[in-house]
Amino acid sequence: MPNVSHLECSLCARHFAGNQIHNLCPCGGALLVRYHLDAIRQLWNRDSLAEGKPDLWRYWPVLPVNRRESVVSLGEGMTPLIETKRLGAAVGARDLWVKDEGLNPTGSFKARGMTVAISMARELGITKIAVPSAGNAASAAAAYSAAAGIEAYIFMPRDVPQANFIECKALGAHVTLVDGLISDCARMVAERKDQEGWFDVSTLKEPYRIEGKKTMGYEVAEQFDWRLPDAIFYPTGGGVGLIGMWKAFDELEALGWIDSKRPKMIVVQAAGCQPIVRAFKHGEQRAEFWENASTVAAGLRVPKPLGDSLILKAVGASGGTAVAVDDEEILDGGIQLASLEGIFAAPEGAACIPALRKLLSSGFLKPHERIVIYNTGAGLKYLETYAKRYPRA
Ligand SMILES: Cc1ncc(COP(=O)(O)O)c(C=O)c1O
Ligand SMILES: [Zn+2]
Repeated sequence: MPNVSHLECSLCARHFAGNQIHNLCPCGGALLVRYHLDAIRQLWNRDSLAEGKPDLWRYWPVLPVNRRESVVSLGEGMTPLIETKRLGAAVGARDLWVKDEGLNPTGSFKARGMTVAISMARELGITKIAVPSAGNAASAAAAYSAAAGIEAYIFMPRDVPQANFIECKALGAHVTLVDGLISDCARMVAERKDQEGWFDVSTLKEPYRIEGKKTMGYEVAEQFDWRLPDAIFYPTGGGVGLIGMWKAFDELEALGWIDSKRPKMIVVQAAGCQPIVRAFKHGEQRAEFWENASTVAAGLRVPKPLGDSLILKAVGASGGTAVAVDDEEILDGGIQLASLEGIFAAPEGAACIPALRKLLSSGFLKPHERIVIYNTGAGLKYLETYAKRYPRA
């Protein structure tokens, strides 16, 4: 029996068959994969997981791929969850952890989404994909496409970090640099994909990247012996990691592996692009387009996330909140994390440090709570950003 029971529209709840090529529901909603969890829980348990592979494919029964031969893997997932006592002492948090996603292939958590999306593309016979990206999704798409022998067409802002551009070129992708933001890149993909025969792997416009990203939630549960932390800080651009983890927690509860306790999900955005923070503050269900988006945290420069309503719903239901921090605070946070803990984070992950400080000093979080920060990428991919702090002359 396949693991997937069907796909379900996140807006209108319409059902679609699995194992077929899909983008959005005709109503515009993102499709979410649903599994035969009742049957799966009879065959798969926490003990059998111990024999699983040391990567995210250990969660095979709750991933959408049918045939093992379809899998395109570069060793993604099962990233370290590191206790950060020195940083904790500096900010006043006694049980503070960093999940270091910078150790993934191509240096970011985007590898999780792409290993699953490109494996599914291969399984479904797709030969050309296109992706608009703030940078790291492009690098991951290029790497997994290269490994799969799939052609990748990439659209990124012209001022994307140098590492992303060079990686994509070296990985053999067709790269178009766009004078604009990821939203402009997305429009270009949408306009050309039918004529060019590209499968659009934009965030949430296909159903499988989120399935890869949700494994961040499975892993944190497993690494903490099936007790979820009190709070999770997530640097939010498109927000798919956050939505994915939220989905994972519901699946884990349906499998009987965790109870109903959920972490407070905390959205971290940059002051120069904070559509979710603004919507959350105003109690809105959708976010408005953020004009003139600008921040050193390239992955957070998403002016209007497609999954805005899902992000806002998860944050609200979790009792979490949304915080914005400015670029100087981001760089200070990155340097503090690096110098105290040996973790050189991407600015996106670094943004969580000042956000944590704010929520501890406001009393929203208490010093004894178990807190996990997701460092979504490696600082090494942002040398030109950090170079601003270390002029050589
Ligand atoms: C390093 C990094 N962190 C976070 C994000 C935002 O991810 P999400 O779309 O899941 O919010 C990105 C997106 O490009 C990124 O590259
Ligand atoms: Zn729908």
